[in-house]
Amino acid sequence: MNHRRRITDDELNLTASRLENMRPEDALAWAVEQFGDRLALASSFGAEDVVLIDMLHKLAPATPVFYLDTGLHFAETYGVRDRLRERYGIEFIRVLPKLTLAEQAEQYGDNLWEREPNLCCQLRKVEPLGEFLAGYDAWITGIRRQQAPTRAGAKKAEWDEKFQLVKVNPLADWSHEQVWQYIREHDVPYNPLHDRNYPSIGCRVCTRPVRPGEDLRAGRWSGFAKTECGLHK
Ligand code: ADX
Repeated sequence: MNHRRRITDDELNLTASRLENMRPEDALAWAVEQFGDRLALASSFGAEDVVLIDMLHKLAPATPVFYLDTGLHFAETYGVRDRLRERYGIEFIRVLPKLTLAEQAEQYGDNLWEREPNLCCQLRKVEPLGEFLAGYDAWITGIRRQQAPTRAGAKKAEWDEKFQLVKVNPLADWSHEQVWQYIREHDVPYNPLHDRNYPSIGCRVCTRPVRPGEDLRAGRWSGFAKTECGLHK
């Protein structure tokens, strides 16, 4: 058995069904118990991620939290990172792409995201994530089933074929409203762009506000057929 696969498919399926009717905190507690320091939380500092940061801080504050720094995030995103650091005392791990933006422009031309957003996501998010996760047995994400058809089948605990480790999605069954209720109840710092019609926030060059009636992810890679960056497929 792969050394990263300390849990069998059967155990994982059983765990997923047991966690299904439990609170997100229970999924986090299971992950901490099962994987210890071989576990990390992925944060883009969006609404779901700040909820998980708050919960994890109460359960296991030493758990590493990382962000993929594409170099293209909104100033507001870096701002909420700093406020979270102050509030919780977390030193977020900054995961960088191999190429700086200048090097990427030199090799692939200016503004690659405008021409080939998939390649840009691959270079600035997916590859760095793969390298980072090689040092872990499990990762925690903020994906929710309601976010997109591609996420409708997400389980609270599952095997991530792409990155070859366990993936824990404690908020899989939560609604948008539940996320915001938690943020308000616990007074969690959040990205102020959420108050300006940005329900889902990625890089500033590939994210726009949504219009009334539009889907929550309509502002991501708008104008392209793309709906996922490749982290969750
Ligand atoms: S994305 O794949 O379209 O960018 P989305 O923004 O919905 O994903 O975020 C879903 C989850 O993916 C987040 O809750 C977080 O766990 C993880 N994630 C997304 N972007 C990043 C990032 N830049 N750094 C770390 N984790 C991220």
